[in-house]
Amino acid sequence: MRIILLGAPGAGKGTLAEMLEERKGLSHISTGDLLRKEVKENTALGKEARKFMDKGLLVPDALVVEVLKKNLNSDSGFVLDGFPRNINQAKMLEENDIDVDTVISLRVKDAIIISRLSGRRICSKCGKIYHLVNMPPKKEGVCDVCGGALFQREDDREEVIKKRLEIYRKESEELIDYYAKRSKLKEVDANAEAEDTYGKLIEVLEEDGKKREN
Ligand code: AP5
Repeated sequence: MRIILLGAPGAGKGTLAEMLEERKGLSHISTGDLLRKEVKENTALGKEARKFMDKGLLVPDALVVEVLKKNLNSDSGFVLDGFPRNINQAKMLEENDIDVDTVISLRVKDAIIISRLSGRRICSKCGKIYHLVNMPPKKEGVCDVCGGALFQREDDREEVIKKRLEIYRKESEELIDYYAKRSKLKEVDANAEAEDTYGKLIEVLEEDGKKREN
């Protein structure tokens, strides 16, 4: 399975991609995580990317593509989380012969997005995603899996969230249309809690897989 997850900030792309990795053995490739790693390691690419990320803006395509190429092995199953973000990036996948089976568009109401992002916490060691109310850790501030300290992302501040949402709305319509025209697009209602949403996602992927086999 080679899947793209599209969706607004906070739609649950990372959470669902983690579940697909754990349960279906797909590689979870998040361009956001890859860029944050570059920022943390203070690489030249990370220093440049940070200027855009802190403001909630998209990082220039050339930088994102560079980081993606270093980390994507297109010979095995993967789930792309946060890439492509615009038509240019979608075309880059095609030009590099990186074919995808299904593109999932996750639909979530705005009010839910804001509450998910403001309550999100992430493990500083293993990257596991939590939510203060929806998916709290057993011990406050500590990761259940590896004991790492939990932190809040820099771009989960209210004014930056607004900018990220604005950009998503501007870019996503065209992108969704691009994949709909190629008969790759499927929609999933992602307003419910994570297990329910994961169940819906699997139903859609299985149905799509059967259609492709016939
Ligand atoms: P990126 O890291 O990709 O952020 P994003 O797209 O804004 O998405 P998020 O990670 O915020 O949300 P998510 O949908 O993964 O939600 P999550 O599962 O964590 O990008 C960050 C920045 O990097 C960009 O702004 C840009 O600058 C740059 N960048 C990245 N890719 C780029 C690209 N291709 N081109 C250019 N620039 C790029 O869930 C959120 C919270 O909700 C969590 O707390 C979770 O526990 C909770 N939650 C999730 N699902 C549910 C559920 N169903 N029910 C209840 N709670 C839930």
